[in-house]
Amino acid sequence: MEFDFNELFNDSYEFVLNNSDEFFDSFITTFINSSPLIKEAFRNTDMDNQKSMLKKAITHMVIFFTTKRASPYLIAISKAHIETHKITPHLYENFINTLIATLAEIEPRFSHETAVAWRITLAPGIEFMKHMSLKDVEMKNKSAANL
Ligand code: HEM
Repeated sequence: MEFDFNELFNDSYEFVLNNSDEFFDSFITTFINSSPLIKEAFRNTDMDNQKSMLKKAITHMVIFFTTKRASPYLIAISKAHIETHKITPHLYENFINTLIATLAEIEPRFSHETAVAWRITLAPGIEFMKHMSLKDVEMKNKSAANL
């Protein structure tokens, strides 16, 4: 048996784009409730704005999967998550797990393979954002050790 993960991803992503209000509403609610740290981080956020920014960010992550070139936009949001929002790397697990849970809830054709297709496709972008965070933590530790 063979799986075409590009096709599985493209079909599911098309569903998300065609149902983006429902998808991102549900995603954000579940994401916020997945950790007290995340709830706190989004305390003062305009959620309508957040939903459209998230939609754009996912497009950049899909492009990054293909090109492996981080756009200035992807670099900027990675830096903002570290420097402005102070997001720790382990919370990226909540992000991808919430995304899969949301798909499982609302996509009629969702399957285990769809989940794998999303994990494969978003992994490079998530690793990039996590790596930028880890690099920042390492540099802070090094400069603290040199004090
Ligand atoms: C790959 C995963 C993620 C993507 C694609 C993503 C995307 C974005 C984007 C596009 C923005 C708006 C631009 C900005 O102000 O930086 C944003 C803001 C933010 N993100 Fe993320 N994010 C991710 C993971 C996370 C995680 C794990 C957290 C954990 C709490 C988080 C918390 C926040 C917060 C607090 C803001 C600022 C909201 C505000 O303006 O009040 N993000 N994110």
